[in-house]
Amino acid sequence: MADRGSFSGRVGFILAAAGSAVGLGNIWRFPYLAGQNGGAIFLLIYLICIFLLCYPIMVGEIAIGRNTQSDAYGSYKKLGGRGWGFLGIFGILAGIFILSFYNVVAGWAFGYFLEISFGDLLSAGDFGAFFGNYINDISDNFWFSLAFMVLTALIVSQGVQKGIEAANKIMMPLLYLILIGLIIYSLTLPNAIQGVIFYLVPDFSELKVQTVFDGLRQAFFSLSLGMGALITYGSYLDKKQNIVSSAAVISLADTSVAFLAGLMVFPMVAALNAYEVSGPSLIFVVLAKVFSNMDPLVGRVVGGSFFLLICFAALTSTISLLEVPAAYFVDQKKWSRKGVVWGMALLIFVLGIPSMVSQGMIPALNKLPFYQGRDFLTFVADMCDISLTLGGCLMSIFIVRTWSLKSMDEELAIGNDHYMKSATRTFLSVVMRYISPWLLAILTFLIIVEKFFGLGVIFPGWE
Ligand code: TRP
Repeated sequence: MADRGSFSGRVGFILAAAGSAVGLGNIWRFPYLAGQNGGAIFLLIYLICIFLLCYPIMVGEIAIGRNTQSDAYGSYKKLGGRGWGFLGIFGILAGIFILSFYNVVAGWAFGYFLEISFGDLLSAGDFGAFFGNYINDISDNFWFSLAFMVLTALIVSQGVQKGIEAANKIMMPLLYLILIGLIIYSLTLPNAIQGVIFYLVPDFSELKVQTVFDGLRQAFFSLSLGMGALITYGSYLDKKQNIVSSAAVISLADTSVAFLAGLMVFPMVAALNAYEVSGPSLIFVVLAKVFSNMDPLVGRVVGGSFFLLICFAALTSTISLLEVPAAYFVDQKKWSRKGVVWGMALLIFVLGIPSMVSQGMIPALNKLPFYQGRDFLTFVADMCDISLTLGGCLMSIFIVRTWSLKSMDEELAIGNDHYMKSATRTFLSVVMRYISPWLLAILTFLIIVEKFFGLGVIFPGWE
């Protein structure tokens, strides 16, 4: 059998999986969803989702991958027959679409890095208007996101150890360093405490159904769950490793970065009195304002490194997204890794173009009539989120009904001598049997209804 590649060991695996998890989801999306959903109450719901629903799914995914040593499609097929293989294909498609819009946003961050470090973005004045124009006009963005995709393909084409693992080992620690530096700065700004209160002291009257939906889909997205990314990474893991504890470290690493990103952003929002900024522009506008208030040279350096940090985080995620379809073609079709990677990268870049031009340039894509007037990028992102929670739901069903909890337990006991008698085992089996399939099915259904029609259709008054 051709050598599929593998991680060098526990540290390499954890860093790569954490790198996949930590991304634009944590630094760009988490703060703005928290801002839209009442701050601390969103954080609370998010944490509950991570612990109760996401952690078990993560363990399950890694266990499946390591057991079969195969890609997402191959894994389901091996354990459940061709019928279940469709779930793998569904995940691979979801990954392709996630990467298509994700790469566009990564291109914005890459552009901000360049324009702050070497251009005159920080003297723009009205940063809200600047950002609006910036994403509307794609003459630069086209090249920035193309560059980002090329970078991703370069790393993935190097294979598991030399590419994915090496890149993560350098980028992950740097990311923590820059983030912590910016938090310290942010906390010293005037009025910072108000931001901290908004972010850390829950106001239960702010709790809405929407908060639960957003918390759940964000948790799935942030941990890279529900589409086979962790099946694929798990397939490169050797049999000596403890999956239960590795998954805990990965979840913790991801959650801590999201938490820290919020801790950085909200004091800044409070200090600048920028409460009117919300949605996807949040970090682009607020952070640019903060950097523009600094001494020009300092602003350039700190601002540049911040957006560089976002690019690092995004890159370790785009790598994992591209690896999923690549692994499928390498494992199942025996195509060469290099050819598959470059072909896929090109295809996905092209698929991302409608998202790129949907921010104003092509008005028809900016306000979709069948999607409550939202833009195409949001549409793709929402559909992907839905496929993740649905994927997680079906995976729990697959584990309980087809693969069997017993087989999963046996896999988890390898590399973990105490597993069979542990409380974790009971917790995982209760969640997989009784909680995640039902809860995820119901919530996914409600999210679909909410997105297309508004929740008022089923629950009058619940807008
Ligand atoms: N988790 C990443 C983020 O938060 C995005 C991501 C990478 C992802 N790989 C994934 C999301 C696989 C879902 C599935 O930015």
